[in-house]
Amino acid sequence: MAEIILVSSGKGGSGKSSFTSGISRALSFNGAKVLAIDCDIGLRSLDLLLGLSDKVVFDWGDVLLGRCTAEQAIVEGETDLIAAPPKFNDAFTPEAFAQLVKSLKSKYDYIFIDSPAGIDRGFQIAAAGAEKAVVVTTPDSVCVRSCGRAFDELYAMGIADVRLIINMFEVKPVCKRKLLNIDQCIDETGVQLLGVVPRDPSLGYCSVTGETPAEFSPSTLAFSRIAKRMTGKRVPLVCE
Ligand SMILES: Nc1ncnc2c1ncn2[C@@H]1O[C@H](COP(=O)(O)OP(=O)(O)OP(=O)(O)O)[C@@H](O)[C@H]1O
Ligand SMILES: [Mg+2]
Repeated sequence: MAEIILVSSGKGGSGKSSFTSGISRALSFNGAKVLAIDCDIGLRSLDLLLGLSDKVVFDWGDVLLGRCTAEQAIVEGETDLIAAPPKFNDAFTPEAFAQLVKSLKSKYDYIFIDSPAGIDRGFQIAAAGAEKAVVVTTPDSVCVRSCGRAFDELYAMGIADVRLIINMFEVKPVCKRKLLNIDQCIDETGVQLLGVVPRDPSLGYCSVTGETPAEFSPSTLAFSRIAKRMTGKRVPLVCE
């Protein structure tokens, strides 16, 4: 039975989709059966990040509109994917989306739902399908504040099991102004830390090309550590 995990943030561009693809790849690499669902209606990106864009035929909107089955909407890969629809439809209700996700629970070990930015309609649909959440922030104070806001919203929706990912972390940032350290990010959001992903220029390159990031790149190593922590192993938060 899958753990159904929402990946959200509040603010845009914090690395939700990069985290979703990175953690999905890492868990799949360790033998888990993983499904990633893109919930960013109109602005989908997970198909590109997972290198599956050429294989997408249907999306979850097609399932809710009765144009295909859930199985037909699944794009099979190392990590399976269901793409996001190109535009909103009144049939895309939180209840209908939640029912679709739950119908796939028995087929996977993990289902990640990549939320759009913000805490409005798209976020509400994405969160309806989830049992747990990860909030992704960069170490800047604006992003950290919006992450705390997303956490409050999730709590109000009954999702109390929430963990924090600090993304694009730099031990020695070029610009220190307004950048918080790890403890400050935890204190400001009030969320328990799951992991830290360093700033990694190769991640940006791979997001454009759809290539798998190199095995020993800083972000791949970070996702591997986070995957181990998710499966209960004791590993350090950051590389020594
Ligand atoms: N750890 C990282 N190091 C360097 N670049 C990163 C890192 N994480 C993400 N990026 C880059 O930041 C940009 C935004 O990332 P991404 O699309 O994952 O964010 P998002 O939160 O999903 O955005 P949106 O809110 O628009 O959905 C992308 O160009 C991505 O390659
Ligand atoms: Mg995204």
